[in-house]
Parts: sequence; C-alpha cells; structure tokens
Amino acid sequence: MRMPPVVASRLRATDVRHFAGDSTFHQVARAVCTADAAIARKELPECWAMAERIHDEFWRSEPPRRVVDVAAGHGLLGWFLLALCYQARAPLPVVYAVDERMPSSAGKIRDSFGEAFPRLRAQHRYIVGDARDVEATSDTLVAGLHACGGLSDIVIDVALEGSSALALVPCCHSTKISHDAAAAAKVGLDEAIDAARARRLAAAGWAVERDVLCSREITPKNGLILGRPPSVSVGEARPLYPRSLPPLSFGWRGVVRGS
Ligand SMILES: C[S@@+](CC[C@H](N)C(=O)[O-])C[C@H]1O[C@@H](n2cnc3c(N)ncnc32)[C@H](O)[C@@H]1O
Repeated sequence: MRMPPVVASRLRATDVRHFAGDSTFHQVARAVCTADAAIARKELPECWAMAERIHDEFWRSEPPRRVVDVAAGHGLLGWFLLALCYQARAPLPVVYAVDERMPSSAGKIRDSFGEAFPRLRAQHRYIVGDARDVEATSDTLVAGLHACGGLSDIVIDVALEGSSALALVPCCHSTKISHDAAAAAKVGLDEAIDAARARRLAAAGWAVERDVLCSREITPKNGLILGRPPSVSVGEARPLYPRSLPPLSFGWRGVVRGS
C-alpha cells in the first residue's frame, strides 16, 4: 500500500480524489475521507498496516469469531479488518470497538462505512467502557493499537485471561510502567518494557512474535507484539488459562458477576 501525496494533515471529504482506485485500501480510504471527521492522515496507513497484518496472521486457519479492539478511538481498525475479510470472502468476525470515550468521529466513520459497505454494518459494534472490564474468550482476538502506557498491560491481561490471540502495538512507554532499570539502560526503555511484556506472555504458554508494524515515518511507535494462546484441543470449549467462570462469548465482568 502506498499513500498518495495527500497534502493536508487531516483527511477531509475533498480528499476522496486522492483515492480513486478499486483496491480495498482505496475503498476504505474513501470511506474515511467521506466521513469528513478530520482523521489524522497518519491513522490511515497505521490502521491499515495493523489490519493487514492481523488478517494475514489470524485468518489463515480458524479465524477468530470476534475481535475486541481495545482503546479503539475512531474505530478504524475494526472497519479496515472487516473490509479485508469481506474482500477476501473470508469469515466475517463481529468487531467490538471498546473505548472509555466514543469520539464523535467514530459515529461519522460508522455511518460512512455503513454506506460504503452495507454488509459490514452489523459486524461492527462500538462499546463505551473500560478496558479492564472486557472479558474475552478463546475464539476472540484481542487487539490494541497504540494502547497508551499501562493500557497495553491491561490488553495483555484481557488476552491472557481469555486465552485469546493478541495483536498489540504499545505506545507511551514511561518510567511509570514497572520495568527493569538495568535492561532499560542497556536496550532503551521501550525495548525493555516490551521485551518483558513478551516474556510474560511466553511464560504463560503463548507463542509470541515481535516485529515492526510499519515504517518509522508513519509512526515511531511501531513495535508489534503478536501472541497465540496454547492450542485448545478439539471439542474443548473452555479456555486453558485458569479462571473461575465458564466462558461467555463476550461480556463485561460486572455484568457476568452480577448475573
Ligand atoms: C492513542 S489512542 C489510540 C486509539 C486507536 N487505537 C488508534 O490507534 O487510533 C488511545 C485510546 O485509549 C483510550 N483509553 C484510555 N484508557 C482507556 C481505558 N482504561 N479503557 C478504554 N479505553 C481507554 C482513549 O480514550 C483513546 O481513545
């Protein structure tokens, strides 16, 4: 995917002219522009790279039935992923975009994508809530793109507790996050924190891969952590990670405990 030379830093309806092609990327870019939600230009290649990578990695066999995009912001990642699945005639997941705030842009994006891709409208659901309350299961992919600071660790908690696959791009690394100071002095703070995150997943039995999502020109916070849970044997519906509750399709801790 190559970004055309869009001049403005924020995408507006008039920018559709830059994306006149038939490719899925151009189709989703037109939907973003048509929303006229002043989405930062860099979000387009960034979210697209994440959606493509998730699709390449997790739709090869046994695609997840649900995707929880934690800290979803505008909700773009879910729409892009759905468009890729649709184009590939692959099974469509239900995407839950979860954020503690739903920006007005997310409503405009929903309307615009709903019009451009009517088949996808029902597959994308925006939920306003705290990341800590997300309850995922083994057929869920937990995604977090630029989950700030300790939010990345919450995204990992959600994946571990749900025995869920994980795709995470952390950001806003800070000394407030628990880290090994000696390692940080040696390899840098970002690397020390993310390496410890990867080790935590691996210690719980997850197959972990670390990579670069996209070029640093698009975003300097481009470190990607992919995790696959220990496989669940055929006919085994329960997550492997120890938990006291039976698995639900998708829920909120408060709702589950109260019911
Ligand atoms: C840097 S933005 C990333 C947005 C989006 N993933 C993207 O890449 O464009 C971080 C998002 O995390 C959300 N957020 C912060 N703390 C949260 C929490 N505890 N639960 C849910 N969302 C949270 C913010 O509202 C914000 O939308």
